[in-house]
Amino acid sequence: MSGDRGGESAPGPGAGPSDVFRLDGKRVLVTGGTRGLGEQIVRLLAAAGARVATCARTAGDLGALEASLPTEEPGAVFTEALDLTAPDRLEAFVQAAAERFGGLDGVVACAGGARGRGLEEADARDWSATWELNVGHAARLVKAAVPHLRRSGGGSVVVIASISGWKPGPQAQYGAAKAAQIHLAASLARELGPDHIRVNAVSPGSMLIPGKRWDRMRAEEPERYARFTAEVPCGGLVTPLEVARVVAFLLSDASSGISGAHLPVDRAQNAPTPNGY
Ligand SMILES: NC(=O)c1ccc[n+]([C@@H]2O[C@H](COP(=O)([O-])OP(=O)(O)OC[C@H]3O[C@@H](n4cnc5c(N)ncnc54)[C@H](OP(=O)(O)O)[C@@H]3O)[C@@H](O)[C@H]2O)c1
Repeated sequence: MSGDRGGESAPGPGAGPSDVFRLDGKRVLVTGGTRGLGEQIVRLLAAAGARVATCARTAGDLGALEASLPTEEPGAVFTEALDLTAPDRLEAFVQAAAERFGGLDGVVACAGGARGRGLEEADARDWSATWELNVGHAARLVKAAVPHLRRSGGGSVVVIASISGWKPGPQAQYGAAKAAQIHLAASLARELGPDHIRVNAVSPGSMLIPGKRWDRMRAEEPERYARFTAEVPCGGLVTPLEVARVVAFLLSDASSGISGAHLPVDRAQNAPTPNGY
């Protein structure tokens, strides 16, 4: 195994293209590209030569991202502030990105997350909001992108699920939505295969992201964090860069034989929670 495991913390603007598949000329749309995994994917794709469109609700974060991306080609990055759960906004953004780039070769459904807490605290709105943010947005994204991917002669779709959709753990509304994303990808791979559109699901393990849950646990509850990460045999939690590299591979022509697959990227993490389930 290479000594480079991506490090214990997520790299920022310095993430370079040297160890990823080149994506020169590819036109890719990534949802939720301003923080965490989405940000790493956008940075890596741009560094690998792709033109990248991304969206998030916070305009200031999109501006900061664009300003910090060292792109060689003017207009290689296209961003728009929007709530992708609002009717028609995501579809309009897909259309605008395709017009801006002259087509699309790939999309990544990365935005996601949970609404509400455990079963007895979460209400019906939490369940439907979690479904819409994860599964609904992914399905709408693919539907809006298909005509553009078809015109490009095919393309690659990556749905970011989670090991919580693969192995059980609270919050159930999140795991159920993530499991549905894994199934969605496999089903759409069969449906869109004749159009040379590949669809795969990637399930990150618990990612170490600066300021987020596991990073806070590392700072505030170091003993609990040590017990949790001791369960990960490959040396600590997976980083967003390690997951982004797999996404870049799936978007590249080097992965042309892979469709309908579910790829956990979790350093063999056995359980998605520090409680062992
Ligand atoms: N973090 C983990 O350990 C982990 C583990 C397994 C799987 N995952 C999955 O990996 C993906 C990324 O997770 P993350 O933790 O990196 O995400 P994050 O840090 O919470 O970032 C989410 C991104 O999506 C955007 N976003 C959220 N809601 C949106 C909405 N309604 N409309 C438009 N943009 C929206 C956010 O920007 P704004 O807030 O400005 O809108 C941000 O850019 C998710 O699908 C998550 O379920 C995460």
